[in-house]
Amino acid sequence: MCGIAGYVGGAEAAPILVRSLKRLEYRGYDSAGVATIHNKQVFVCKDAGKIDEINKSLGLERLPGCVGIAHTRWATHGAPSKVNAHPHLDCTGRIAVVHNGVIENFLLLRKELIDQNHNIVSKTDTEVVPHLIEEHIKRGLSFEEAFVQALKRLEGSYALAVIFLDQPDTIYVARKEAPLIIGVGEGFNMVASDMTALLDMTRDMVFLHDGDAAVVKADGYRIFRLSDGTQVERMVRRVELTIEMAEKQGHPHYMLKEIFEQPTALRDSLRIQREYVDLLAELLDKGRVIFLLGAGTSHNACVAGSYLFSALARLPSYPVIASEFVANYGGAVGSDTVILAVSQSGETADVLNALEYARMRACTILGLTNTVGSTLTRVSRAYVLQNSGPEIGVAATKTFTSQVLVLAQIALRLARLRGKIAQYEMDEFRQELLKIPNEVEKVLTTASVKMRALAEILVEKPFIFMLGRGVSTSTAYEGRLKVMELSYIPCVAYPSGESKHGPISVIESGVPVIFVVPPDEFRKPNIGNIMEMKARGAYVIVFGDEKDDELRSIADFYYGLPRTHPLLTPITYSIPFQLLAYHLSVLKGYDPDKPRNLAKSVTVP
Ligand code: AGP
Repeated sequence: MCGIAGYVGGAEAAPILVRSLKRLEYRGYDSAGVATIHNKQVFVCKDAGKIDEINKSLGLERLPGCVGIAHTRWATHGAPSKVNAHPHLDCTGRIAVVHNGVIENFLLLRKELIDQNHNIVSKTDTEVVPHLIEEHIKRGLSFEEAFVQALKRLEGSYALAVIFLDQPDTIYVARKEAPLIIGVGEGFNMVASDMTALLDMTRDMVFLHDGDAAVVKADGYRIFRLSDGTQVERMVRRVELTIEMAEKQGHPHYMLKEIFEQPTALRDSLRIQREYVDLLAELLDKGRVIFLLGAGTSHNACVAGSYLFSALARLPSYPVIASEFVANYGGAVGSDTVILAVSQSGETADVLNALEYARMRACTILGLTNTVGSTLTRVSRAYVLQNSGPEIGVAATKTFTSQVLVLAQIALRLARLRGKIAQYEMDEFRQELLKIPNEVEKVLTTASVKMRALAEILVEKPFIFMLGRGVSTSTAYEGRLKVMELSYIPCVAYPSGESKHGPISVIESGVPVIFVVPPDEFRKPNIGNIMEMKARGAYVIVFGDEKDDELRSIADFYYGLPRTHPLLTPITYSIPFQLLAYHLSVLKGYDPDKPRNLAKSVTVP
């Protein structure tokens, strides 16, 4: 997720754009840049690093001109560097582009443009855009028509702002599955990824729709549909939010914003680069012993991944807590061992220490991370990026569901490589995989109200149990971590079948037990466990299928979820736990974004 901004009006554009970038920094902060037009020249200033550093060293805000575009980056393609920073130019240097989103077919477009002798200098997906526009101009199209035809070649998501030397009073914009707003001013107009970048200048905003494009000038703008050029009117809304509220998209906390942006994050996680998924699967398939290594929430994702690899590809893999890896397996690993390390930050010390040991033992190291340029990307032989965008809340939410979705895509690739399950089963799973963002959207329409009600029931409980079977064990583990780290209520999580081997002795009247019971092969034994708990007076809470009336009838508190593939339920069923944890934290008067004693990335062992 990146942030883009644009200004056209009577004032110098650069200082206004740098201030806008600062407001967008929470959307990405590994590189930044500005482009302006002045006296028939395009000026570009960009680099890796934080906005203030670049401004200090290169003078971002000193660029001349009253029209400009700007960008702050959370890298998805190409490490943070000067050449990969936006804005990107065409061969002539007359067209500058900034982009938020993921262009899925950029490799094909890049090859086509190189064959047409375009000089592509970066590793980004974005750079194909200015060269595509240039190519269409070469064929005699007007700039606007070249802009439209170029965008029609793009697959994936984009919010784009483009300036063109021959039209120094105009910004061309368009959006598809990435937010873009026009800020309407007196004698000027702006564009930006979200409200925060505009509120210092105007509160009158036009929220563009998917498929909208616009030509923006100082004295007005024209919005049209990219598909057929039909001009459309969009309402101008006056926004009363404070800057801080706007950064959280109107939510009171980043954590809640990040929970509700999971459908978008998951759509981007479905746009990861295929060749890297294929490479990871090929390398995993060659391993004699496979470990899935992580800490905290990322370890819980590894547990889910282990079930996915086994069920879809019949590939055994050991999910291991990073800090225990050397003690538990250090003597047993060697050149035939493959380790897939999962780490949102890519900087967790326990993970990196384990990998350093493994590297000395000639293990093959692979990575799944959210952070380009992180240490994990440097120590991995190959890695894949989950494309979740920055996660500001200390508690992992969207990054967990994205991690599981990426592991599911790797598991499906392994299934095709190893051919241990039927083709129809693979196809069925892929269909369900593609529907996940929409299924999550459905859960988010009901979960918050229900989990707020459940939080009021649990807020004074001394401890809480979470139980699940099969892949739902990972969901129970993640639910335990979420609730514990945000509400500080001690929680216990086990595979349901294990509860009668000891944990059930804790159960007495009123003890809350949350069962994770999707409509899978473990539903029946789970009902047995539920009855055992009820017989001992437990307060039984069940997260189950929205149509499962039998389960609903035996639960003291029931939350029904839409049906998805059983192996994907850690994604959908973890969301009520995220919201339960959030509401418990708020009810207890804590700050869900900054739980006590915790850091977003634990870089000390
Ligand atoms: C999860 O909510 C916590 N923030 C924590 O357990 C976290 O998942 C763990 O520290 C691992 O972080 P990483 O994914 O960046 O390696």
